[in-house]
Amino acid sequence: MPKLVLGSRNKKKLGELLDLLGDLPIDLTDLSPYPHAPEVDETGTTFEANARLKATQLAPALGEWVLGEDSGLCVPALGGAPGVYSARYAGTHGDDAANNAKLLAELAGKTGDDRAAYYVSTAALANPQGEVVAVVDGRCWGVIGTQAKGTGGFGYDPLFYIQEYHASFGELSGRVKHALSHRGRAVAKLRPILRKLFGV
Ligand code: IMP
Repeated sequence: MPKLVLGSRNKKKLGELLDLLGDLPIDLTDLSPYPHAPEVDETGTTFEANARLKATQLAPALGEWVLGEDSGLCVPALGGAPGVYSARYAGTHGDDAANNAKLLAELAGKTGDDRAAYYVSTAALANPQGEVVAVVDGRCWGVIGTQAKGTGGFGYDPLFYIQEYHASFGELSGRVKHALSHRGRAVAKLRPILRKLFGV
């Protein structure tokens, strides 16, 4: 079975990728079987640059096909923040509670369109030689609520409301999130590429 390594240690991201691609006969794993994988510094200023950094540095180090995915939340009224710094918005990488508290504080007093936001997911696929063979992306628009709701998803999901559903991604099922989300949309573009590449 062909193997594809997600260049991440975020179990929630791997879970979403498995939900989205798990029906394909591809051995999809994250970096947990590779404790010595290099740490990739996310020095890029765009999602694509960081996705490419992850894919091109990890693939030759592991000798495997690697999917580098970089994602985040952009709030136009905050000049696009937290953007590529979404995971470390409040300072500590991956501290979702602190990131959400900072986002609420930055948007205090803002209403209407000033609370509009979109998620971005950009994924770069590199072959074991470290050459990027595909880049895909997806976006999803929502509104930042005034309080966290629900426990599903991860990151900013309890604050990210989908107006048509009157609910946050924290409240909606994984199935609904995947149908609407930035990652779901990026992976929908990736799927035919993987099928052709791996003949599955
Ligand atoms: P990355 O691991 O460098 O791509 O950072 C992604 C960060 O963006 C996460 O830590 C979250 O803060 C945020 N993020 C990306 N995708 C999602 C999502 O689907 N839900 C909630 N937060 C997300």
